[in-house]
Amino acid sequence: MCGIIGAISQRNVVKTLINGLYRLEYRGYDSVGLAIVDENSKLFRVREVGKTIDLDKKIQHLAVFGKIGIAHTRWATHGKLSERNAHPHVSDYISIVHNGTIENYRELKTWLRKKKYLFFSETDSEVIAHLIHWETQRNKNLLRAVQKVVLMLHGNYSIIAMDSRDPKRLVSARTFNPLIIGLGKGENFLASDQVALSSIVERFLHLKKNEIAEVSKNDVKILSFDGRLIERRDVSSQIYQEIPTKGLYRYYMEKEIYEQPEIIEELIKDRFDSKNNIFFSDLEDSRIEEIFIKMESIQIVACGTSYNAGMVGKYWFESFTDISCNVEIASEYCCRNHVISRNSLLITLSQSGETADTISALNLSKNLKNYLASLAICNVSNSYLVRESDFSIMTKAGMEISVASSKSFTAQLTTLLLLVAYIRNLRKKSKDSFQKDLFLSLKKLPKYIEKLLLNHQEKMNFLISDLFDKRNVLILGRGDHFPIALEGALKLKEIAYIHAEANYAGELKHGPLALVDKKIPIIIIAPYNGILSKIRLNIEEIRSRRGMLYVITDERVSIQEDDQTKIISLFDIEEIISPIFYAVPFQILAYNIALFKNIDMDHPRNLAKSVTVE
Ligand code: AGP
Repeated sequence: MCGIIGAISQRNVVKTLINGLYRLEYRGYDSVGLAIVDENSKLFRVREVGKTIDLDKKIQHLAVFGKIGIAHTRWATHGKLSERNAHPHVSDYISIVHNGTIENYRELKTWLRKKKYLFFSETDSEVIAHLIHWETQRNKNLLRAVQKVVLMLHGNYSIIAMDSRDPKRLVSARTFNPLIIGLGKGENFLASDQVALSSIVERFLHLKKNEIAEVSKNDVKILSFDGRLIERRDVSSQIYQEIPTKGLYRYYMEKEIYEQPEIIEELIKDRFDSKNNIFFSDLEDSRIEEIFIKMESIQIVACGTSYNAGMVGKYWFESFTDISCNVEIASEYCCRNHVISRNSLLITLSQSGETADTISALNLSKNLKNYLASLAICNVSNSYLVRESDFSIMTKAGMEISVASSKSFTAQLTTLLLLVAYIRNLRKKSKDSFQKDLFLSLKKLPKYIEKLLLNHQEKMNFLISDLFDKRNVLILGRGDHFPIALEGALKLKEIAYIHAEANYAGELKHGPLALVDKKIPIIIIAPYNGILSKIRLNIEEIRSRRGMLYVITDERVSIQEDDQTKIISLFDIEEIISPIFYAVPFQILAYNIALFKNIDMDHPRNLAKSVTVE
């Protein structure tokens, strides 16, 4: 999703900006642009619908030079995908880049039109450039102009503004969307994501909500929207976030699927001590133990894949501990009234830690009574959710580039299961062997996933070729495997462009059975567990209506094949780790269909990796 960068230096910043754009690519975008002020204070802007590499080539050809500049990756929210909607937006000598949305842009546009401003784009962002221009005409100072303009804007945003008449400073402001300042020697940088800057600086300042920064080569001044000067200590982070390469894999998605066994192995090593007891080095604060003991309920909030992981977490919390657990989609959670039960813990679950809806939910929870604390389970250690939550646990899946989550999902599930076991142990008066048994089960998981990845052609090829040209698919599951059906359907939608719907297998007879005919493929997840007999009933309901059925199951389960029923028999997986394992066949299925269809699955249409708008 949109990413912004700014640079001011004593050397040419074009390459730095372009490199930053490359590093922001993983967030997902559809157009890019850059503006530079050259030695003669001339503003030079170049924009491109497409990839950073196209912009890079264009710029190399034009031999652009400048010591101050701003750049942007755009993921369209207002206005179609076109060069004139791409950022930076310009109003005479002012240029801006913007991440987020301006809710009152229509009113502002009407007002600006009356002041004779012309609009060249359909975006909400262009009003910002014109408003700053209007204000600089009044008080000649970019900082003061931005201070005035932020009071007129309603919405969630981060912006960087540049004035070509005064190429000695960049002014940045943010409400909700993240913005980080990278501190160099005789040069400073701004970006919406540390990844964009981690190859050039090691010291950072986080701009907080409702703050403005004036950034010159040698200085950074931070002010609140109401004009107070703010002292902020810089933080140093030497984590050089190398953007991983694809290696010999065709897509990041493929690589990330294949990384799963190793990630789970590492998680086990990291989270169990030599006596096979679970520990969380990230939760060293002693207060959290008290909270885990005192809490009476858990509220998980997340989006997309992370929500699906949270759903499995609910089953596990309620099966293996005495704590009740609710899960809610973050975009719903943040927009309704709540009754929070006594002594609740809020858990946000997120790969990126920058998802706007989840951040809103966390922010809302801070004003709600009865939450003891907030805990983020996240894959990115310097993300907003980690910084702003009371406690955090890392899922340690490594950087995930492909828009569709794979390894981050199984890492979230593994982490949740470990957390459940950890909390169970803390709360139980008489300790049992749960943790030690879990250790033994989890130890087997990487091997099973590896085996499936090695043998998937033999096991799954007919399913892949049967589904490849289908427009609709139903996926059914029960219990802690229903969220796996949800995740499977999400993968098919996201990267294979197949309309896939997940249903509770037991709900079939309450409606979806009407869809069953010889044409719509139905995949049912039938692991060997306590509710297999119920799943068998659901299988029969479909068979007797001559539905086109695919049963993904375990070698211990015997189900008769016929011309309408096909069996994908996987391995004997222990019940407790089974949801983690069953996520993988769906990743393989969606990935292979996308491959056949020649879909750029790392960048599926209309989607972004980090969804930073609500
Ligand atoms: C997953 O394949 C998706 N790309 C998407 O649903 C994602 O899980 C969602 O946007 C939440 O992201 P987060 O985990 O970074 O918060």
